[in-house]
Parts: sequence; structure tokens; C-alpha cells
Amino acid sequence: MTRILAADRAGIARAAEVLRAGGLVALPTETVYGLAADAGNAAAVARIFEAKGRPAFNPLICHVADRAGAARLAGISPLGDVLIDAFWPGPLTLVLPKRGDAPVANSVTAGLETVALRAPAHPAACALLAAFGGPLAAPSANPSGRISPTTAAHVAADLGDVVDLVLDGGPCPVGLESTIVGIAGARATLLRPGGIVAEAIEAAIGRPLERTGGAIVAPGMLSRHYAPHARLRLEATAPRADETMIGFGNVPGDLSLSPSGDLAEAAANLFTMLRAADAAGKPGIAVAPIPGHGLGRAINDRLRRAAASS
Ligand code: TXA
Ligand code: MG
Repeated sequence: MTRILAADRAGIARAAEVLRAGGLVALPTETVYGLAADAGNAAAVARIFEAKGRPAFNPLICHVADRAGAARLAGISPLGDVLIDAFWPGPLTLVLPKRGDAPVANSVTAGLETVALRAPAHPAACALLAAFGGPLAAPSANPSGRISPTTAAHVAADLGDVVDLVLDGGPCPVGLESTIVGIAGARATLLRPGGIVAEAIEAAIGRPLERTGGAIVAPGMLSRHYAPHARLRLEATAPRADETMIGFGNVPGDLSLSPSGDLAEAAANLFTMLRAADAAGKPGIAVAPIPGHGLGRAINDRLRRAAASS
């Protein structure tokens, strides 16, 4: 049986002990559940890669409490500070030049000269970072390539036998992973759309984000990802006989991401509904069209990866 503890004082204290002993803790964040380990402990970090079946070339995000925690790991340019001031704590990850003396295992960054950092806003994640007192490496708590978890039950079902403790903080309110922005001096590049919409970031920096033009710059952005077992058909307006339909707005379905067409509600429901549609057992899942602006950009990104055949 997986140990699941409520993310209360006792649960947080126990989780910090597990982390100090080199264990793995699944922790709630505002985006998705993360699979956390002490970023400075190479053996603990190795357990993350093993538990997820994650290729060693794919680096992990380090979670820190605040800007001061980030500054111990990376050089932060004035542009980085603008984004930290505007969006931390919250679902924005910054890829920054790694400090030579950063106290993280080399495997966390897969040997890169950069490190991905984020200060999560979820109260349980904040409390655990405070109790632990150092950076936590934490990818999403799913087997590599599969759907990210947004509840403690998802984690227990997927990784229950390999995680030492699951902290249950309820369903994740954002439901999609963080937006990742690469900072190189005065340049800011969108590496992964996510919980903070690109439009808000562009408003904060006063200019458009640079785009990667399809090159894989975040090593984890392989095209097939977030995959359900059923085959996925996008931009569908009605299901075929062998499909479970996920609707949106005025396109109805067996499930609906948001009957009112609200993109934040759709993001929060996306991974749970993909899992539910998969569990319905039909060979196919059809998904209604989702608008391409705001959070729709990240939703469509995840749907396209889930539908990709390789
Ligand atoms: O919301 C989130 O970001 C969640 C929660 C748990 O914080 N975490 C998450 O981690 O989504 P993960 O490992 O599933 O995705 C992290 C992505 C991967 O695509 C990885 O390749 C990229 O971040 N990444 C990490 N370090 C990087 C670096 N130094 N340069 C470029 N990409 C990096
Ligand atoms: Mg992931």
C-alpha cells in the first residue's frame, strides 16, 4: 500500500524527513503533482529517473522557495528579475545559467550549463520547501511519456510502488504544467506553454517572447507525451462509434472540459478527463476544438503531444 498522508503539519514534517533520508515524495503543486527528491543528493535524484523511466538526458526542474533560493543556483539577469517579480510564486519556470557552485547533483541538469527553476505557489509545496530548507528536484509524478497527475490518487495509481510518500493536497487548481521560459541575458524564449499565458509574460516584459521554431530546446519536449492508451482524435465535433467524446463549450461530449467554454476550467479538467476517457475503455478518444489563445495554447500543446504517434 502506498503511504498517502494529508498535507497538514504532520504530513509536511514527515515528508521533509523522507526527503532528508534520500527518499521520494509526491507533492502537490498548483500545476500538477511533482515527484520530489533532494536536488543535492545524486542517489535520490537517480531514483526519480528510475521511478519515471525518464531518459538521463532530460533535466529536472528545481523547486525553490523564492528568489533568494533561486540565486543560490543560478545567475539571474534583470530580465529574470522582472519575471520573478511578476509571476513568482506561481506556474512559471525559468531556465537560467547555472552557477558553478550550485548545490545540485549534475544529473538534475543532465550536465547542461543551465538550470530550470520554479517557486511553486501551492501552500503544501511552500510548506515543504520551508521545512526541507533546500532545492527540490521534481518532475511531474507520472511515468515518462504518460499523462501528468493532478490528484494524489493518480500518483498512487501510476507510481504507488516506487514513491515513499504521497502528500495529498487535493486536486491541482491549474491542472497543466508550468510555462517554461529560457532567459539568456536580455533574451526570453518560450520553451513550453503552460499555466502562465504567453500574453501575460509578454505584457510584463513589454515585448514578444522569442519562439523556438519547433527545435527541441527543452529536452523533454519530445513530440509524444501525455499519452493515454486510447488513440486520440483532435478537433472533433462528434464522436465515432468507438470513441469516448470530450466536449468543450457548445460541443457536447460524454465529458466536457468546460460546458461554458472557460479555458481555465478546461485546463484544470484536462488530465483528469483524459484519464477518465481512457478508463472508459473504448479504443478512441475524440476531443472538441479548443481555441488557440491564452491557456488554450498550452491545452492544445498537450493534446497534440498526446495524439502524436511518435
Ligand atoms: O509545473 C511543472 O513544471 C511541474 C511541477 C511538478 O512543478 N513539473 C514538470 O516537470 O512539469 P517535468 O520534468 O515534467 O518537465 C520539465 C521540463 C522538461 O521538458 C525538461 O526537459 C525541461 O523542463 N527542462 C528542465 N531543465 C531544463 C534546462 N536546463 N533547459 C531546458 N529545458 C529544461
Ligand atoms: Mg512531465
